[in-house]
Amino acid sequence: MNVLLIGSGGREHALAWKIAQSPLLGTLYAAPGNPGIAKHAVLSALDPFDHSAVVAFCKDKAIDLVVVGPEAPLVAGVADALNDAGISVFGPSAAAAQLEGSKGFTKDLCARENIPTGAYQRFNNAPKAKAYARAQGAPIVIKADGLAAGKGVTVAMTLDEALSAIDDCFEGAFGEAGAEVVVEEFLGGEEASFFCLCDGTTALPFGTAQDHKRVGDGDTGPNTGGMGAYSPAPVMTPELIARTMEEIIEPTMRGMAAMGAPFTGVLYAGLMIDETGPRLIEYNARFGDPECQVLMMRLKDDVLTLLKAAAEGGLADLSASWSDDAALTVVMAAEGYPGTPKKGTPISGLDAAEATGAKVFHAGTALQGDQLVAQGGRVLNVTALGPDVTTAQARAYAAIDAIDWPGGFCRRDIGWRAVEREGKN
Ligand code: AMP
Ligand code: GLY
Repeated sequence: MNVLLIGSGGREHALAWKIAQSPLLGTLYAAPGNPGIAKHAVLSALDPFDHSAVVAFCKDKAIDLVVVGPEAPLVAGVADALNDAGISVFGPSAAAAQLEGSKGFTKDLCARENIPTGAYQRFNNAPKAKAYARAQGAPIVIKADGLAAGKGVTVAMTLDEALSAIDDCFEGAFGEAGAEVVVEEFLGGEEASFFCLCDGTTALPFGTAQDHKRVGDGDTGPNTGGMGAYSPAPVMTPELIARTMEEIIEPTMRGMAAMGAPFTGVLYAGLMIDETGPRLIEYNARFGDPECQVLMMRLKDDVLTLLKAAAEGGLADLSASWSDDAALTVVMAAEGYPGTPKKGTPISGLDAAEATGAKVFHAGTALQGDQLVAQGGRVLNVTALGPDVTTAQARAYAAIDAIDWPGGFCRRDIGWRAVEREGKN
C-alpha cells in the first residue's frame, strides 16, 4: 500500500513512524514533512491546498491511502477532492470537518441530539453578545466561531474579561473566524481528550489522553497548542468511556449521517468530567498534537489496517489494543513561544536522548546543511513509556536532559495530575 501523509508536525512524525512499521506499507510519501519524517518517508513539496495537484500526485505515485494530519486542509476540502477522484482518504469531508471548523455548528448539533454540553448562544454582533454575557455573569466562555489556531477561546473569570474578548472577536483579532461568536456556560471539572476512529457509521474508541495547554509550569501563562500529554487519562474509567460513547459520540455519528455529512477519520472529543459525568467542550476532526504521539507509542495494532478501515468502511469488524504502559510526551519549544518563536537556533544531542530509550519526534525542525535547527514554535516531542506515568515522566525528562539546545525550553511538570494520583513521589 502506497501512502501519502499530509502535514509537518510532531503528530505527523508519530504517524509516519507507526505507519513505517506496517507490513502493508509500500512507499510512504509526506508533504511537506520534516527532518524526522524524512527518516520514514519520501518528502514532497506538494501544496495540500492545491487539490488538483494533490490528486495528480496520488495518481502519479499510485497512492492507495491519503492520511491528513492537520485540520486546515480538511476544512478546505482536500478529502472531498480525493474522494471525488476515487482515492481513499483518512479524514473527514469539509462538511463533516465543520465539527471542528465551526463551534456554532457543533453546539447546534449538540442541541438537536441532546448531547451534554454547556448552555450557549451564537451571536453576529457585539452588543447582543455582551447583553447575553452580562445576563449570564462570569465565569463565562467566549469563543470565536471559526478556526483560530487554538487561540480563539477566552475562559473569562470576570465580566470585564468577557466583554473585552467579545470586542476582540468582532474587531478582527481572529480574522473571519471571529465574525461569529459563541458565548458559553463555564464548565468546571477535569479535562480529558477522547479519540474515536470513524468510518461514517461505526465509531471505534481509540484511546484517551490529557494535554497541558498552558505554556508554564503549574498550568500558568498563555494557552498553546499543547506543551505535553500522557495516555491513558486515568479519569476516563471504562464506565465513563461507555457513557461518552452512548451520550456524546454515537448521537454525533447519527446526527452527522442524518445531515448527509457522515463523519470519517478521527473524532477527537475534548471533554469536561465532573460528578455528573462527561460533557463536550469541543470537537476536533483530527488527531491531537501532541496527544497523537502518546497514542502511537501505545498502539499495539497495525495502524494502516485501522486507518484504511476508517477511510473505506469496516471498522465494525476491528478493535484497537493498547500497551499496558503509560506514555508521556514533553514538548520542547523555541524561546518566545507561544508568541514569536526564535528561529534558527542549533539543536544537538538527539541520539543521546534516544539512547536512553525515549523516542524524539520532530515538530518544527529544519536542517541547515548538516545542522538541525529550530524552525517553529513547538520543535521536539520527547516521548517515553513506563509502567506508570511517574516512570514515563522520569524517563522523558532524563532524555530531555541529554538534549543540547540552549534556544529551547519545556515545562518540567508534564503529567503532574497523574503523578499526584499515583502518589509515588
Ligand atoms: P478549545 O480551543 O475549544 O480547545 O478551548 C481551549 C480550552 O478552553 C479548553 O481546553 C478548556 O480548557 C477551556 N474551555 C473551553 N470551553 C470551556 C467551557 N465551556 N468551560 C470551561 N473551560 C472551557
Ligand atoms: N493538543 C491540542 C490539540 O491538538 O488541539
